[in-house]
Amino acid sequence: MITEIGTVFHDKLEGREVTIRGWVYRHRTSGNMVFAVIRDPTGLIQATVKKDRVSEKDWKDANDAYVESSLTVTGVVKKDERAPGGYEIQATGFSLVSRGEPFPISKDLSDEFLLDIRHLWVRSRKMTAIMKARHHIVNYLREFFDREHFYEIAPPIITKSGCEGGSTLFEMDYFGDTAYLTQSSQMYAEVFIFSLGRVFVFAPSFRAEKSRTIRHLAEYWHLEPEMAYYDHEMNLKLQEDMCQYVIENMLKNHSGLLEACGRDPLDLEKVKTPFPRMEYKDAVDRVNELGGKMEHGEDFGADEEALLTKELDRPLFVHKYPKGIKAFYMKEDPKNPDLVLNDDLLAPRGHGEIIGGSERIWDYDELVSRMKEQNLNLSDYQWYIDLRKYGSVPHSGYGLGIERFVKWILNLDHIRDTIPFPRTITRCYP
Ligand code: 4AD
Repeated sequence: MITEIGTVFHDKLEGREVTIRGWVYRHRTSGNMVFAVIRDPTGLIQATVKKDRVSEKDWKDANDAYVESSLTVTGVVKKDERAPGGYEIQATGFSLVSRGEPFPISKDLSDEFLLDIRHLWVRSRKMTAIMKARHHIVNYLREFFDREHFYEIAPPIITKSGCEGGSTLFEMDYFGDTAYLTQSSQMYAEVFIFSLGRVFVFAPSFRAEKSRTIRHLAEYWHLEPEMAYYDHEMNLKLQEDMCQYVIENMLKNHSGLLEACGRDPLDLEKVKTPFPRMEYKDAVDRVNELGGKMEHGEDFGADEEALLTKELDRPLFVHKYPKGIKAFYMKEDPKNPDLVLNDDLLAPRGHGEIIGGSERIWDYDELVSRMKEQNLNLSDYQWYIDLRKYGSVPHSGYGLGIERFVKWILNLDHIRDTIPFPRTITRCYP
């Protein structure tokens, strides 16, 4: 029977013989002893191999092992203060499954090199912790929406029209015709509010943005809820409840993992709802007060977002932007026709925008006239406009960029470490 390394620590198997199956994490020889730290998906444990306790073949295997050789070790669990985790395995058997070749990753390699061998680098402790944490974060998001009675729907990835403006579309040849990789599944989510009420999409979005920053990817995972009969207020409340749900559960169940990723759980404990709000015009004034330089009518860049949030310990809603700088589908503010009922949620301490959302235009004539104002080709969007002809209702929704959310929750420096194979302006390999 195979024992997982995590259970050796958990179930206090001291004195018992176990067999573990893993990979060499660290390896050193000293006279008639080999010390090998073994890892498996659940943890690390040291195995000590003494020449006179194992067969000749096993002693050779123990000496031949490279970092990342795969192996099976059998032995007795002993308490040892000096071993990582306080326990070690005194081996009675040590057998390589595949010795392989010397592992090409050692200390102090450049970021670019590590990206070139990403398929191997993802085995590192840090990347393993991040991938586990990302898994839990996504699970809690799904769990949240399930509890709120949302249905998940599957959108198309190949589309005929953009949702967020033409400049960042990836164009492709579609059997001789032109099509695009989706920028957002919002419009397809809107289709389903009529039959399912509250829905969400969790799918990749693509942006051909020429931005080389720590928070832009060309391919990212996008969570997009859409809700019938939700107004602006309800939309904001859902966004903060969602963040709170994920953070509470990560703190309750995975604080060790948070720490392994470099996030101090105490910092996240300060994230409590309600999140502060600022209207766009006040946010622009605030940026300028804090030493930034910004005109009314411009959108916030990373520097401005950092100024607004660097002292905050919870996210900030900036809402009600000027109509002219926002997407065509956003509903006008009934109190001020120059503004729209939208919001961007900015994560604290300069992590930047994690959500963009809005109440949607649900009136047919209003939508058509806004699209004309923005010089959009109505025929590309006929199906979307059609939705306003048959039993249209008020509704709202938003898009959360998973990688930006993970970057914030885990307090990572760069978005590329939140996703196994980042696609950026300079990288599409491996
Ligand atoms: O603000 P955006 O462009 O909004 C939309 O796409 C809406 N249609 C969403 C909706 O209402 N259903 O993008 C939403 C979020 C951003 O807040 C950000 O978190 C993420 O998507 N995002 C990116 N993440 C990584 N790399 C990029 N290049 C991103 N562009 C947007």
